[in-house]
Amino acid sequence: MTVLRSVVLGCGSYLPERILTNAELATQIDTSDEWIVQRTGIRQRHIAAEGEFTSHLAINAARSALTHAGVDAQSIDLIVLATSTPDNTFPATAVAVQNGLGIHHGAAFDLQAVCSGFVFALATADNFLRSGAFKRALVIGAETFSRILDWNDRGTCVLFGDGAGAVVLDAQAQPGKSSDRGVLTTHLRSDGRHKSKLYVDGGPSSTRTVGYLRMEGREVFKHAVGMITDVIVDAFEASRTTAEDINWFVPHQANKRIIDASAHKLHIAPQKVVLTVDRHGNTSAASIPLALGVAVADGRIKQGDLVLLEAMGGGFTWGSALVRW
Ligand code: UT7
Repeated sequence: MTVLRSVVLGCGSYLPERILTNAELATQIDTSDEWIVQRTGIRQRHIAAEGEFTSHLAINAARSALTHAGVDAQSIDLIVLATSTPDNTFPATAVAVQNGLGIHHGAAFDLQAVCSGFVFALATADNFLRSGAFKRALVIGAETFSRILDWNDRGTCVLFGDGAGAVVLDAQAQPGKSSDRGVLTTHLRSDGRHKSKLYVDGGPSSTRTVGYLRMEGREVFKHAVGMITDVIVDAFEASRTTAEDINWFVPHQANKRIIDASAHKLHIAPQKVVLTVDRHGNTSAASIPLALGVAVADGRIKQGDLVLLEAMGGGFTWGSALVRW
């Protein structure tokens, strides 16, 4: 028996040129490199240039993923772009990306699940590919969080950065075993009771403004590890795998303490954890594909490896995905 799987053909990423270090931030607000590193593991973040939009970052990441995959843009018939910082309220940033890549067929849409956006987008594209509705997808996470930060709020502005990452998924027949290449299982959750713990205080329907990010950091922290580990246990059970089988853990990069605590609770060895939060900060939906880009480029993630993805963020939303590279 064969089944359709969404096989990763390639990945790519893009970071804006400008780097903002903790030391530079400390000259603008009452903070220090020591506080930020100790509480979060973040040392620097990238900031998009004036006139550089989410779609521009996404197009660069998508081009790099297409090149890495060795496929032509015209072979893509689905684009799912996860972002909470779209160029405009509408149309979807995904159609700007589609047009920028010269693709005028198939479908392109945005998906909004804040920091869990990439996992939600991967699961969405995977379901479309496995159903046979589309054959080849670009799944993109792209953000310009610097545009929705209150740069006077030291509790939030030190945490986030800009960037984009993308993967190319291809529907391929596989034997239907856990040794198959491709997305093996995805698990998505949300609970709106927590919606006011991490939100943006503006929007087209409520205030007619864009608004700024607001967060009760300690509340988010309190729930993060439990939610992350629950949904990873779901992935292990559904795929009959264990932490031992995992080659690489590529979590959402929000805070090194959350990542370390989650890996420890799941008995995932520290050397299997891909960490980029020090260099990128929290890039929300872009953080996982950016981290994948780093670990593939430096030769850690190789074909056949079992890669565990996980994210948690505003909503709350949270999710996991298990992918055989
Ligand atoms: O993608 C998912 C989204 N977000 C997250 O995962 C974030 C989850 N939360 C966290 O990572 C942490 O809660 C933070 C890193 C945001 C904050 O760490 P914390 O240990 O929870 O600190 P806190 O907010 O409880 O603040 C402790 C102290 C406070 O001072 P007092 O009241 O004890 O005098 C803050 O005013 O640290 C102060 N503080 C700062 N000090 C220097 C807050 N931000 C800063 C700062 N620099 N940037």
